[in-house]
Amino acid sequence: MQDGLFISFEGIDGAGKSSHIDGLAEALRAQGRAVLLTREPGGTPLAEKLRTLLLHDAMDPLTESLLVFAARRDHLQQVIEPALARGEVVLCDRFTDATFAYQGAGRGFDLRLLAALEAWVQDTGEGRVRQPDLTFWFDLPPEVAAQRLAGSRAPDRFEAQPEAFFRRVASGYAARAAAAPARFVRIDANLPRPAVAQQVQAAMARRTGPAGGAP
Ligand code: TYD
Repeated sequence: MQDGLFISFEGIDGAGKSSHIDGLAEALRAQGRAVLLTREPGGTPLAEKLRTLLLHDAMDPLTESLLVFAARRDHLQQVIEPALARGEVVLCDRFTDATFAYQGAGRGFDLRLLAALEAWVQDTGEGRVRQPDLTFWFDLPPEVAAQRLAGSRAPDRFEAQPEAFFRRVASGYAARAAAAPARFVRIDANLPRPAVAQQVQAAMARRTGPAGGAP
């Protein structure tokens, strides 16, 4: 059995990661890997209910952070850890870097408290803190993201934030990437879609070899 592989996808709203997640899933399946597609907040019935609250109900940043991590705990236990144990590739649309970027840098919430919650919630029970093996960071200037989002569907509580919020979120991602350079792959999302897809495929091949095996 191949080792499980945990891959997350990050970036500010409007960075355009969704279609590339689907493309990578297809490529990996074509190579014979079992792929599980999931997202945060969400990925389980309970976590999807919490997602609805997070995206639409007003709350303070501590409540927001606790709900994000509560959803993450359920998602890890019910879905992510079992899939990794089965040797699958887990492709997760956002994970904890989003919490540091949005709640931490965006809302200005205490990063030490977020780090404590991260260690607590992502404890594998074997003295390890679960982290993605690889994180694709779709980096796009906030003003370009704002243009892409303008006029699209009705914005949720995060998408409705001003550009200054997304500048802070983007700097939060940059800080997380700088702190974990071996895990992060920066994707220049300000290019035409085929060029972005090519960066994703190339980075994946560098990490896992053409057959999508263990890193
Ligand atoms: P997103 O992943 O962009 O989904 P969609 O493409 O359907 O809009 O939406 C999730 C939102 O949740 C996004 O604005 C970022 C926010 N978020 C946080 O604030 N903290 C988190 O920890 C996570 C995972 C997401």
